[in-house]
Amino acid sequence: MKEQTALQFTDVSFTYSGKSPAIVEKLNFNVKDGEFVSIIGPSGSGKTTLFRLITGLENPTAGDVIINGSASSCRLGSVGYMPQQDLLLPWRTVLENVTLPLEMEASKQMVSKVELYDLLQEFGLKGIEHSYPAQLSGGMKQRVSFLRTIITGSNILLLDEPFSALDAITRLTMQEWLLEKWEKMRKTILFITHDVDEALFLSDRIFVINGTPIEKFTEVTVSLSRPRKIRDLARQEIVNIKEQLIDQLRMKVHHG
Ligand SMILES: Nc1ncnc2c1ncn2[C@@H]1O[C@H](COP(=O)(O)OP(=O)(O)OP(=O)(O)O)[C@@H](O)[C@H]1O
Ligand SMILES: [Mg+2]
Repeated sequence: MKEQTALQFTDVSFTYSGKSPAIVEKLNFNVKDGEFVSIIGPSGSGKTTLFRLITGLENPTAGDVIINGSASSCRLGSVGYMPQQDLLLPWRTVLENVTLPLEMEASKQMVSKVELYDLLQEFGLKGIEHSYPAQLSGGMKQRVSFLRTIITGSNILLLDEPFSALDAITRLTMQEWLLEKWEKMRKTILFITHDVDEALFLSDRIFVINGTPIEKFTEVTVSLSRPRKIRDLARQEIVNIKEQLIDQLRMKVHHG
């Protein structure tokens, strides 16, 4: 079976406005269909900007962003995007937040009522579908936000530091939960994180940001079989990769 490319950057450059420094410079990379890739890098290095380029909220100054084989400047709606801040609407219930994408023309009728209720069940949100965001725990809010991202029907999901506000234990539970869902759904996931352990546990490959502007990632392949257990992170080969990753990140911070 031929491996399909879900996402491709070809010589992508990007600058926010005429005078500001370039964020991305002739960047090339590929993500395969069904792959789990994490992007890790210091604060302000351009991770969220990469997602904004993929979604079409920003357009490259040069080069192409190719999604499922087509380079279109009108990419809005073709990927599922879970932004860095929790953007649940406080005046809407869980159910009303989840179904927000269905109210947009493009994704209408994508999910039937029956499917929606199955999904709520599957995502552990049954019984709280009429609660408001303020009544939910951090982990619940992230599950609502993730389900809303899935509801778009896209094969590519962009998750921008989804678990960074959670406490250590909830975070672990959510990581295991996400892997379980991903293994079931066979979607392509791009996942931004600051956390080396999180990236190692979740990913097939890790892209490390190599300074500013982003010209090339340092790429790390995580050769752990799946399903994974948290204790796999204690294996010597993973500990070695972890040390490498931390060194690379430290270098970036020291040398800008
Ligand atoms: N709308 C904007 N206009 C101009 N500059 C921006 C805009 N958004 C971000 N920037 C700048 O672009 C750079 C990269 O920002 P970005 O948000 O992509 O970083 P990040 O890696 O996601 O950081 P963090 O880890 O803190 O979320 C920063 O210097 C930021 O100040
Ligand atoms: Mg960011």
